Amino acid sequence: MHANFDLGSWSSVRLLQVEHALERWVTADTPQGLDHGAPAALVEAMRYAVLDGGKRLRPLLVLAAHEAVAACAAPNPEAALRAACAVELIHAYSLVHDDMPCMDNDVLRRGKPTVHVQFGQASALLAGDALQALAFELLTPLDGSVPAATQARLCALLARAAGSAGMAGGQAIDLASVGMPLSERQLREMHELKTGALLQSSVIMGAHCGAPTSTALAGLQQYGAAIGLAFQVVDDILDVTADSVTLGKTAGKDAHNDKPTYVSLLGLQASQAYAQELLTQALEALRSSGLPNTQALHALADMVVNRAH
Ligand code: IPE
Ligand code: IPE
Ligand code: MG
Ligand code: MG
Ligand code: MG
Repeated sequence: MHANFDLGSWSSVRLLQVEHALERWVTADTPQGLDHGAPAALVEAMRYAVLDGGKRLRPLLVLAAHEAVAACAAPNPEAALRAACAVELIHAYSLVHDDMPCMDNDVLRRGKPTVHVQFGQASALLAGDALQALAFELLTPLDGSVPAATQARLCALLARAAGSAGMAGGQAIDLASVGMPLSERQLREMHELKTGALLQSSVIMGAHCGAPTSTALAGLQQYGAAIGLAFQVVDDILDVTADSVTLGKTAGKDAHNDKPTYVSLLGLQASQAYAQELLTQALEALRSSGLPNTQALHALADMVVNRAH
């Protein structure tokens, strides 16, 4: 049924849109058009962290979920573009902090020296802080383009996914688990928080830029949970199977840092089989949403599990 869908051409238009918007919004001028006199060096570190790199999977999920729901009712492409960029800013900030010496201590990210290597630790910390704040600024435009209720809902979803019950909480568990054998359940919970929450919120935020039915929302929640977990399972696999040039980040870091991962717990083959099982679950959930226009979400799930980097 999805045989004719070309993810490459669907993505290329939207990736350009997202790149252009990020380029415009991550500047010394605020998205509200106010001159707040941001220090040029801090803005430079923020732009270095965000622009020209990354797969932009989270923005694509936001836009795909919006399109799936908007095919039925009430599209708001401006809200969806803002949500797409806001999630990417949170993601970029999480990478900057994840790479710092106090966390994973990585020197390579998106094929470039990490932000703290390039600009120093204090600048990396502050660039992350500022990117997080900017994400919420993007979600709250003053020009009436996004209804107040949608703004509030998007902020609540993103805050929840980024905070102590989401990404930051998962990162705390990750750091506390170095050298510790976790049970499968503990490992799953860690991955669901540190990576799954933001991916799932991308899907749900995109949906809420339209007017999803409760059936659609329930299906998309399950879809987001499955691909969110699958994404980190595959990240663990690629850390072992891929090389640093392909990944744009240092391969083999998990074993080096003694992190509990799916590969260390289940082994490579069982991890690969689990990722495929999660893909099946995601596609089943997508069907249960009853949405007619899910080709892009389908193809993105496939890409999450079968990607090379
Ligand atoms: C890497 O995310 C960090 C994880 C959450 C596993 P991505 O693989 O999406 O990184 P980019 O955005 O493409 O660089
Ligand atoms: C990071 O997980 C998840 C984040 C919240 C950034 P990893 O530490 O495995 O991500 P990579 O492998 O460095 O991209
Ligand atoms: Mg990490
Ligand atoms: Mg890391
Ligand atoms: Mg990793």
